Amino acid sequence: MTQPILQFDKITKRYGQRTIFNEISLDVRPGEIICFIGPSGTGKSTLLRCVNGLESIQGGEIRFENKPVLAADRSIIDVRRRIGMIFQSFNLYPHMTALENVVLASVVVHKEKRKVAEERARALFEKVRLTHRINAYPAELSGGEQQRVAIARALCAEPHILLFDEPTSALDPETVGEVLTVMRDLAQEGRTMLLVTHEIRFAADVGTRMIFMDGGKIVEDAPPREMIANPKSERARQFLSTITAGAH
Ligand SMILES: Nc1ncnc2c1ncn2[C@@H]1O[C@H](COP(=O)(O)OP(=O)(O)O)[C@@H](O)[C@H]1O
Ligand SMILES: [Mg+2]
Repeated sequence: MTQPILQFDKITKRYGQRTIFNEISLDVRPGEIICFIGPSGTGKSTLLRCVNGLESIQGGEIRFENKPVLAADRSIIDVRRRIGMIFQSFNLYPHMTALENVVLASVVVHKEKRKVAEERARALFEKVRLTHRINAYPAELSGGEQQRVAIARALCAEPHILLFDEPTSALDPETVGEVLTVMRDLAQEGRTMLLVTHEIRFAADVGTRMIFMDGGKIVEDAPPREMIANPKSERARQFLSTITAGAH
């Protein structure tokens, strides 16, 4: 079996006295597309945020490409560059064009030549099917278009893994599909993706693994279709029945 690209080794997260999760372990191998599901407040977003050091952990260790994320001889800026994050809220800069938003980090943080970054960005606008909107400002774009710009922005850093935290849950229903299409394209390229989503049909089609979290624990970990058809625990069964009832 190939080496994991990302490893959670007994990681514990607390906020003050409150334990969010306790000793969670998980190996992620290159090309896996892992869909996290579970009730609100169970720690899914926190788990993703721990990966690139946006959250501290109180126990255990996260290793990315065989080295602790927070190793003394490693810069967290370099780690974050290789771990693309896409959030529910796109957080584009309103006073910058779509293209400027995409190249900003490459040019300002990573001191890349603007021409090189722009060339890469143009190819990415094609990939997210937004070439015609490259000079638009965020306010001129639909939610789905803004989220696709945010995906292009994450890709511009040439990440080795992509983390998506409910990327479609803030969108108008008519723009959800265009974002899922782009994510499907990325999956077909063989990218490694960790994804919190309640788009159950997408998870079944595209995911290689589904993880059901509840009460700060990994309760089930199975191929998506298997879990959806035959959840092992009562909690997963109940949760899946509430989200599939609303699935479109
Ligand atoms: N900055 C914070 N300070 C204290 N508690 C937090 C903070 N962020 C999240 N939490 C708590 O951690 C728990 C897990 O949150 P979260 O990871 O957002 O869950 P999920 O994404 O599964 O809905 C929740 O109970 C939430 O209230
Ligand atoms: Mg969340």
